[in-house]
Amino acid sequence: MKKVVSVVGARPNFMKVAPIHKAMKRLAPETAHLICHTGQHYDEKMSKVFFVDLELPEPDFYLGVGGGTHATQTAKTMIEFEKIIESERPDLVVVVGDVNSTIACSLVAVKLGVRVMHVEAGLRSGDRTMPEEINRLLTDAIADYLCVSEPSGLENLDREGVAKEKVFHVGNVMIDSLTNYLPMADASNVLDRLGVERGRYVLVTLHRPANVDDPKFLARLSQTLERFARERKVVFPVHPRTRKNMDANGVAFPDSENLLALDPIGYVDFLALTKNAEVVVTDSGGIQEETTKLGVPCVTVRDNTERPVTVTLGTNYLVGTDLAKVEERTLAILGGERKEGRVPELWDGKAAERIVEIIERVV
Ligand code: UD1
Repeated sequence: MKKVVSVVGARPNFMKVAPIHKAMKRLAPETAHLICHTGQHYDEKMSKVFFVDLELPEPDFYLGVGGGTHATQTAKTMIEFEKIIESERPDLVVVVGDVNSTIACSLVAVKLGVRVMHVEAGLRSGDRTMPEEINRLLTDAIADYLCVSEPSGLENLDREGVAKEKVFHVGNVMIDSLTNYLPMADASNVLDRLGVERGRYVLVTLHRPANVDDPKFLARLSQTLERFARERKVVFPVHPRTRKNMDANGVAFPDSENLLALDPIGYVDFLALTKNAEVVVTDSGGIQEETTKLGVPCVTVRDNTERPVTVTLGTNYLVGTDLAKVEERTLAILGGERKEGRVPELWDGKAAERIVEIIERVV
């Protein structure tokens, strides 16, 4: 029996591997599909809840890598994943996204002569100070099969000289999960539980080191949240990195009953919150894509994006990290100013099927 191992490590990986796992079970039952969780994210609220929401089985392998510096996290993942590859000798390793687990496992597999497929290949922010950009560049340089989610990925790989035979425009697997779970999100009562009204609240998520590791940004953020809370309810599920840094720098949340600073939220409830938000303010990669699919305005607190189609075609505004500008844009949207978005090609809920077809052809 042929064997494929898919790797998950951090929160944004779970919703990408879930549809691939389901499509493998349905369309390639003769090929074993095993899941390896590196343990890069380990909290119940950053990991376990996603396995439950996305109906993923218990991982076949759990490496228990945990937090640490980039070197520690990457090195530990490599040491543990090498043992799995040596004992299992899979025909293919599938890695997704751009987290440390993605590059660590790709490097191990390739050096042991096991082929690697990178899902969400070719994205480039052009900013090499971002850890994810380094992970993307290196993973794409060594992977055998590159599955691309948006047209910019094709252009970037072409410019970098990647052979065309290795590149497949399959669409966006994250949108597969969104499409699958939208009915469940529609049935969620999370808005009632939080006491927010459909289409009348601001949803905020921030976790990028470039933002939340900067004490000045955090201090200014408190004012921004306060400004939003004067207009609307503000729902802010706080990432562990952001919370730790706020605590360490003595930055408090503004004292407003309109601000709901929460623990991280599960997949289905978060999808419901995104779909029904009046505007989303974020520095996440994936949320830029989800809002574009849902037609919800998104204000991205970054200077660049590796997902330009969300700006050129979708509902995303790339405003930079100056929070005065973030406030200005967000308030304009609350005032009714918004652009019409369109859904990019192949963001149709069927990317995983296309990926499985390729897997079946190559293993
Ligand atoms: C990682 C990814 C990032 C992704 C993000 C989504 C890399 C380089 N970065 O960043 O691309 O957008 O995940 O969340 O891979 N922590 C916990 N509990 C957890 C996980 C983390 O408390 O379950 C703490 C860690 O100890 C650390 C901080 O949160 O102090 C950050 O975690 P880390 O895994 O380093 O990276 P993220 O910022 O989450």
